[in-house]
Amino acid sequence: MFFNRQGFLVEKDLKIRKIDHLNLVLMTIRDVGRLLITENDREKLIKGICDILVEKRGYYNAWISLFGNHKKIDLIADSGIKSPFDSLKKNIKNQQFTRCVEHTLVSEKVFVVNDPVKECTQCVLSKKYSNRSALAVRLEYEERNYGFMVVSIPKELASDKNEKNIVKEISDDIAFGLYRLDLEERRKFTEQDLEQSRIRFKTLIENSLNRISIIQNHEIVYENSGIRKIHGLMSKVFDPPEFLDVYFEDRARIKQLYTQLLSNKIRHIETDFRYCPFGKDKADQEIRWALLSATKIDYLGVESVLTNIMDITDSKEVENFLRIQDKMTSLGRVTAGIAHEIRNPLSGIYIYLKALKKIYNQMGDITKVVSIIDKIELASYKIESIIKRVMDFSKPSQPQFIMTNLNDYIDEVTKLTSVTLRKSGIRFEKYLNSNIPKCFAEPHLIEQVILNLITNAAEAMKEFQGEKIITLKTFKNDNHVVITVKDTGPGIPLARQSKIFDPFYTTKSTSSGIGLSICHRIILDHGGSLKCQPSENGGAKFIIELPLKNIEV
Ligand SMILES: Nc1ncnc2c1ncn2[C@@H]1O[C@H](COP(=O)(O)OP(=O)(O)OP(=O)(O)O)[C@@H](O)[C@H]1O
Ligand SMILES: [Mg+2]
Repeated sequence: MFFNRQGFLVEKDLKIRKIDHLNLVLMTIRDVGRLLITENDREKLIKGICDILVEKRGYYNAWISLFGNHKKIDLIADSGIKSPFDSLKKNIKNQQFTRCVEHTLVSEKVFVVNDPVKECTQCVLSKKYSNRSALAVRLEYEERNYGFMVVSIPKELASDKNEKNIVKEISDDIAFGLYRLDLEERRKFTEQDLEQSRIRFKTLIENSLNRISIIQNHEIVYENSGIRKIHGLMSKVFDPPEFLDVYFEDRARIKQLYTQLLSNKIRHIETDFRYCPFGKDKADQEIRWALLSATKIDYLGVESVLTNIMDITDSKEVENFLRIQDKMTSLGRVTAGIAHEIRNPLSGIYIYLKALKKIYNQMGDITKVVSIIDKIELASYKIESIIKRVMDFSKPSQPQFIMTNLNDYIDEVTKLTSVTLRKSGIRFEKYLNSNIPKCFAEPHLIEQVILNLITNAAEAMKEFQGEKIITLKTFKNDNHVVITVKDTGPGIPLARQSKIFDPFYTTKSTSSGIGLSICHRIILDHGGSLKCQPSENGGAKFIIELPLKNIEV
């Protein structure tokens, strides 16, 4: 038991002081807590807390600073500071911190400055801190540092462990409150963003010229006005499960695709179909074309089908028109070619027949008759062979595919030609890669193609000055057997390259110009491709690629 200087019982005094102290602490924590829940403005919040700490907790002063974007202090609030604080505020905003603040950046513990006057000579506040101490603490929640708080307290409280705990607790509460504000702000932003993108999306969908719909359990639960608006159509276009407005010839196919999509056999539908725009499936009704894209989606938690339908009637019509026009053009070209090819021998026949008639009428030299008949025979043969080639081209016989190694046939056929080539001063080089797999082909047709290409190359080099070489190669690349025929001739000018595969296109006076179109046709029938490229040495290079499907490796 102790007495103080005035002779009062100190124990009782202490107890009363402790109870008062405890009450103040509780009130402070309660008021700070209340403010943290009710105040959503960060600046008002920290100012309010500083006021509470000074008024209720009895601190001499308190100041709180918060980090904004880019980890720079953007808000500072204070209470109870009488000395000029502006220069300190400015420094803090410029990242020039006081000693106590520096400590909060490196440690989560409450930092105690027992005697600021001595310890913090640089600090503008310290001069007024005689008999006072300071506590500084960071405002941290879940490893995020929101800022710091500095309070000025009576010197005797500085070493009080409880006081440090109270300051730590209040700082944790403030940090949590700031975290809550952050969350709230983010939620608001996200909600706003979501609402804006929902509106944008809705506007986009509503104004789309396509018909977009969502189907759940065969029911259309959403559809925009899409096609209907533009075409003023009444049809639902795509209305499961019966699809009554789909044209009857396409209905079974569409039903099947839809069922396959629902049962996950396919992941997506991408097809076109015909539909009856006015919803009645009558033969005399207008029929339009639609392009459909359908995918499964989750819509409001229910498995649904999202469809996007575009009316493509107009483009189908244009496509059809172009196809007919293209056919007419090639028909015209072929007809002109045939006419051109037949006209010469036919007029020959006419002239010879006239000569025969003259001999007969005038009882002329009968010995000439046989040679005239021979000429007529030759002209008729020419006509027949032209017609046969045209017939072969337009109606080729069904190829007899077999599994075979093309090298054997190519080797055989080129042995014969290389002799003829040598006589014309052409060197023939062949590189048949023995690793090419067997493939499904009609070897005699492929031989025909190779011979045609070699003949063309030889013809191209006929008048050509310089080294004459034809190189033939076979090899395998990824999924193809490749055959190339290359020459050292004049090559094919770019402008001509697109024409050389056209029937009857020729630059030779005595040829019909049907060779390459037949080659092209044969290779297409094999599912392959025939292309022409300039070769490295300026000549022409023809590349045949035969696909390796149906191929024995
Ligand atoms: N290797 C080549 N070098 C240069 N030009 C070529 C070559 N191969 C083809 N051409 C050009 O392509 C044209 C068409 O060739 P295509 O084989 O179809 O007909 P053609 O050889 O003229 O006549 P046909 O083959 O009916 O006797 C040729 O007239 C020629 O101008
Ligand atoms: Mg030819």
